[in-house]
Amino acid sequence: MLVNGKNLTTIWFDNTEDVVKIIDQRLLPHELKIVNLTTLSDSVYAIKEMQVRGAPLIGVTAAYGMYLASKESSDIDFLIQSGEKLKATRPTAVNLIWSVNKVINKIKENENNNRTEYILQIANNIRQDDIEVCSKIGDNGLQLLERIYKNKNSTINILTHCNAGWLATVDWGTALSPIFKANKKKIPIHVWVDETRPRNQGFNLTAWELINENIPNTLIVDNVGGHIMQKGMVDVCITGTDRTAINGDVCNKIGTYLKALSAYDNNIPFYVAAPISSIDFSISNGIKNIPIEERDEKEVSSMCGLNSKGTMERISITPKNANCKNYSFDVTPAKYITKIITEKKIVDANESSISDLEV
Ligand code: MRU
Repeated sequence: MLVNGKNLTTIWFDNTEDVVKIIDQRLLPHELKIVNLTTLSDSVYAIKEMQVRGAPLIGVTAAYGMYLASKESSDIDFLIQSGEKLKATRPTAVNLIWSVNKVINKIKENENNNRTEYILQIANNIRQDDIEVCSKIGDNGLQLLERIYKNKNSTINILTHCNAGWLATVDWGTALSPIFKANKKKIPIHVWVDETRPRNQGFNLTAWELINENIPNTLIVDNVGGHIMQKGMVDVCITGTDRTAINGDVCNKIGTYLKALSAYDNNIPFYVAAPISSIDFSISNGIKNIPIEERDEKEVSSMCGLNSKGTMERISITPKNANCKNYSFDVTPAKYITKIITEKKIVDANESSISDLEV
């Protein structure tokens, strides 16, 4: 998607330098910095410290991490161990496990190839597929927005949580993909952007994406959603997912559940945009079985922003030695989800519809 009028993606392989290039998302929206990943440990660091984030993007980064590992050694045991290191970086998004397993299974099936070259080819394919999958999610979700516009005939107000835009994928995004497609078709839209404390992905990333694409948007703190839904100021909610269970329970950024409850109480459709790679077909109950990442307390007790000198600074916002807890994700029960938008089709949030998607 566009940054200052130019197309950019979040990750790509640079042939001439033999490095993987990423955007360091920790610095956005204040600085656009491209950094190189040249080793397995660079990739582990990038995912763990959230230079890259968003379920699909961490999956793609892990695939390139496997390529970088194979340059250190292409021995299968070493590659399996490297895959385990990558999988351990963040526990909730299933795309990470999906992508590492895909690389390992393919090299086991294909013993005759030059392993390093072959893994690079697999990673490039995973990256390319992600772009196509997200574009298709956009096309499918667009049909829903077109229907809402047909009934309303004026600007559609969409609420989204966290960042499930192109920065969370390679390009297009998941929840924002239908929004980008609707904007390209000149359907009038306005997006309510949730702050998404503690890391502020809404303010830092989603708002930046929408501003770059010239899409009208308004930033609200996390607790505003219920109020504007009651006042009829939201027509539809669309979020992403880090892991969806086969029963339709959706795990996404902390706070998603409360938005879904408010939407349900106010008869507002709540859609989840989900690449099939983010569905965990081995999990039958999302609330019971999806592991919830807990991150450093410092993300709760402090905030980061630009100071008056224009440099980024982290400041403390709680009493000294306050006890904080940083749950990063929550699970929205299937009963609150209107439909799930995948690249294949739009499905109901229940086992019979979801199991149909398994390939
Ligand atoms: O902690 P993050 O920033 O990686 O969390 C991202 C989200 O929760 C997104 O909504 C989710 O990954 C879906 S992205 C297409």
